[in-house]
Order: sequence, then C-alpha cells, then structure tokens
Amino acid sequence: MLKKAIVLAGAAALTGLASTAVLAGPDDDELVIDGETFVTELPGFEGSPLDPIYSGWRFRDDATQALEMDDFENPAFVFVEQAAESWETVEGTEGKSCASCHGAVEESMKGVRASMPSYNEAAGELWSLENYVNFCRTERMGADALKWDGDELNAMTALIALQSRGMPMAPVIDGPAAEWFERGKEIYYTRYGQLELSCANCHEDHTGDMIRADHLSQGQINGFPTYRFKNTKLNSAHGRFKGCIRDTRAETFAPGSPEFRALELYVAWRGQGLSIESPSVRN
Ligand code: HEC
Ligand code: HEC
Repeated sequence: MLKKAIVLAGAAALTGLASTAVLAGPDDDELVIDGETFVTELPGFEGSPLDPIYSGWRFRDDATQALEMDDFENPAFVFVEQAAESWETVEGTEGKSCASCHGAVEESMKGVRASMPSYNEAAGELWSLENYVNFCRTERMGADALKWDGDELNAMTALIALQSRGMPMAPVIDGPAAEWFERGKEIYYTRYGQLELSCANCHEDHTGDMIRADHLSQGQINGFPTYRFKNTKLNSAHGRFKGCIRDTRAETFAPGSPEFRALELYVAWRGQGLSIESPSVRN
C-alpha cells in the first residue's frame, strides 16, 4: 500500500507530504510492562541527529500499544517459548544444547542485546546477535546455521533480547567499530531506488507524518525482533531494512550482509538510551 501510494504520485509525493498529510506527532502514552516504565522518549545526546528521540511504540495506535504491554497478549511470546525449548535442546554432532554451556538464558544472556551489533575481535568483523548465535551453532555445537531473518533464528534472538528488556540501547561505535559506523551512516543517507529516497528522507524529515494509513516513526530498532501483524510473525531489524528499501523500488542488501550490519549499528546509535522493548509489537 505504501509503495503504491508513493509510486502513484512519484517522488514528489514526499515533498508534498507535509502539506497534504495530517501532521501527527507521537502520542503521550506511557509504556509500562510488568510494572516497569520504559524510556520511549529522551532528549538528543551530543551529536544526535534526533531531538527528542522516540521509540516507534509511541507512533502506534492504542490497540497495538496495548498488546506490547501484556506478555500474555503479546503474540511474540509464542515464538519466545519455542526458543526457550530450543535453548535446552541438544542439537548437532557435539551433543550439546545452548544450555550445556550457557546455563540459564535469564542469567547468561542478560544485557547481551544492549550492545548489539558489536565488533568481534576474533572474526575481525562487526557481528549482529544472529552471527553470535550461528557461530555457536556451527563451531561449538556442530549444528547447521539458522537462516537469517528466518523464524527459528528470530525466535532465538527474541528470547535473548528479552533478557535485556528495559535496559538502554548502548552500542559501542568507537575503536574498530568506527569504520562500520561510518559505513552505516553513509547508507542511511544514500538515496535508493526509482524514488530516490534515503532512510533519513522518511524517518528524519517526515517523522510523525502519515503515509496513507501508516504513521511514520523515527525508524528505531529498540523493539527488534518485532512481531508484525503484516506477516503475523517475528521480524529482524535486517528484515525491516530490506522491506523499507524495497519500498523505494531499489535492489536491496541481504539480511546478514555487512552493509545491513553496519546500518544496524548506525541505527542503534541513533536510538541509544531508549529502552529495549524486544519483542515489540508493530503493524
Ligand atoms: C560448547 C559451548 C557452547 C554452546 C553449546 C553454545 N555456546 Fe554460545 N558461546 C560460547 C562461548 C565460549 C562464547 C563466548 C563467550 C564470551 O565471549 O563470553 C559464546 C558466546 C555466545 C553469545 C555472545 C554472548 C556475548 O556476551 O556477546 C551468544 C549470543 C551465544 N553464545 C548464544 C548461544 C546460543 C543461542 C547457543 C545455542 C544455539 C549457544 N550459544 C551454544 C559457548 C557455547
Ligand atoms: C518511503 C519511506 C521510507 C523509507 C525511505 C524508509 N522507511 Fe523505514 N519505515 C517506513 C514506514 C512507513 C514504516 C512503518 C511505520 C514506522 O514505524 O515508522 C517504517 C518502519 C521502519 C522501522 C521499524 C520501526 C519500529 O519501531 O518498529 C525501521 C527500523 C525502519 N523503518 C528503518 C528504516 C531504514 C534503516 C531505512 C533506510 C534503509 C528506511 N527505514 C527507509 C517508511 C520508510
């Protein structure tokens, strides 16, 4: 629908957006889960392109917001429970489960999501959470790698991310991560596709505007992996990036690619200080 809306009017649609669309910022609702209040709004930090910084939750309608506030209603938890079972399940040639080495997920994975993606010294690369999971599977368990943005891997990253829920996004962008950060920033501001739109054109210039029925947020990733009504399953940040670029009618990078890992680091930095909401609920 979004694609059609924009293509019909051409790229000019976005220029005219502010004047034709109802301007509607984020709402004032408070996100509380299990009695804990989440940070969904904070002032921009030094050098921040955004001020204030908002979670995408603040742009969703009340019904969608409510689902994320109750773990029994949040549809993502069906998948999280499946991952909790896989955590204990022996797989691969080494006869091990995740739990054999890591013990309880609640203890060993606490805080891990907050600094993802992170530079892995041994690999000499920036790794997303998915890379860490798959490395353990292939190199430490003798099991197959799981498909990027596939249901099983998204469920496992959701289970792991849940152990950091409520903690602030805190990616490390200096040292060897710096060049990845710069690469991610460059991608963020590059205009892609026939529509010649960059991430910033929508998520920076038009935050709060309506594109048809969709309320544009700042495109933050503090809620990922996220359950979406659109496909009724969990989605990774890379899956979302792919969809957004596809909407500009461009060829996209693949989930798991170095480009998307770099972009993930840059976007994580834009939202630093926001509470991790994973697994969130979006439309
Ligand atoms: C044979 C032991 C072993 C098994 C089995 C194993 N891991 Fe690991 N895992 C490790 C070690 C060792 C590290 C690196 C430890 C460190 O850096 O703290 C690690 C690191 C990780 C990390 C990165 C943590 C961080 O602090 O950055 C994640 C995520 C992870 N493992 C997930 C999993 C998952 C999910 C499974 C099951 C699919 C699994 N691991 C199975 C040994 C194992
Ligand atoms: C044509 C406009 C457009 C462009 C260009 C665009 N997006 Fe989006 N994006 C949307 C819309 C619409 C949504 C759904 C509403 C929302 O959450 O903002 C969305 C959602 C998102 C979300 C989910 C936010 C959440 O809270 O769940 C992320 C992350 C995101 N975009 C990142 C990006 C990145 C990174 C780029 C550049 C590669 C990009 N987008 C390019 C329109 C766009």
